[in-house]
Amino acid sequence: MHELQDILEQAQQQFAAMNDEAELEQAKAKYLGKEGSLTQLLKGLGKLSAAERPAAGARINQVKQGIEAALQQRRDALAQQKLAQKLAAESLDVTLPGRGLGMGGLHPVTRTLQRIEQLFHSLGFATADGPEIEHDFYNFTALNIPENHPARAMHDTFYLDPQHVLRTHTSPVQVHYMEENTPPLKIISPGRVYRVDSDATHSPMFHQVEGLWVDQDISFANLKGVVQDFLQRFFEQYDLQVRFRPSFFPFTEPSAEMDMSWKGGWLEIGGCGMVHPNVLKHVNIDSEKYLGFAFGLGVERLAMLRYGVNDLRLFYESDLRFLKQFN
Ligand code: FA5
Repeated sequence: MHELQDILEQAQQQFAAMNDEAELEQAKAKYLGKEGSLTQLLKGLGKLSAAERPAAGARINQVKQGIEAALQQRRDALAQQKLAQKLAAESLDVTLPGRGLGMGGLHPVTRTLQRIEQLFHSLGFATADGPEIEHDFYNFTALNIPENHPARAMHDTFYLDPQHVLRTHTSPVQVHYMEENTPPLKIISPGRVYRVDSDATHSPMFHQVEGLWVDQDISFANLKGVVQDFLQRFFEQYDLQVRFRPSFFPFTEPSAEMDMSWKGGWLEIGGCGMVHPNVLKHVNIDSEKYLGFAFGLGVERLAMLRYGVNDLRLFYESDLRFLKQFN
């Protein structure tokens, strides 16, 4: 019977020293398995006399229960340990400083548009808006570009159907505005325009700002004054020069390209001219009484120059490393 007590103590010690659940289950076999020491003893009961058997059997069963209890105790302890470790690993330190939310910012083209609007508002221009999907009439015909006119080929147009286009410039807003308002008129119209075009200085979607001033005594000198004043303030360069190069637009006469002085040379930034009498006629404005000038500036060009960006497509790649530099 001493043997039984030894087995129980040995099992208790062995289990208590185990730190691995799988190893613990293996150790159990040493006592309770088919070849286990206790199982062997139970098998040996048959050899005892009928008188000795019940007491011996009861004693072995007691030890067996003791071993099972020790096993269960260790299993529970290991499970408890595992849970404690897991909780410790997942613990949340509420005293740590927060990671912070990334700050959003305005896109450089949006910033440029806002700056342009602000400056023109200070010169007394109101803002007008127009649709990006235009009827052929407004994009071309009403701007003195009749059907089959070669000037239509100057714009690489996205046609939605034979009658509708994604506007190729903001000039159609001139027509919408003049249809609905009577002179004097003094507006700018910033917005998206579209052309089948893509390289370092051309993007299929870009922005223009249209300008229109119609009144009784408007001359080319006013145009030059407004554009020069705007550009000098936009770039904060008060010696900045503007040059007008003779050009052709069907909706202005005379027409010019506007260039500005830049790093010892000249850079084209938009087109302009005096509103063509045919355009005024389309909207029932008496061209004997009223004169007007109009211009169209490329917004991305202005943003590129102001921020020193050499490829316009960077504005539209949504690369945060690039965009974050402007905020
Ligand atoms: C026009 O679009 C005329 N509507 C401008 C105008 C308005 C003339 C009023 C007279 C009176 P143009 O096609 O040159 O003109 O375009 C004007 C400016 O838009 C260009 O100088 C350039 O700065 C910009 N631009 C043209 N195409 C692109 C493009 N694909 N990507 C970026 N900017 C462009």
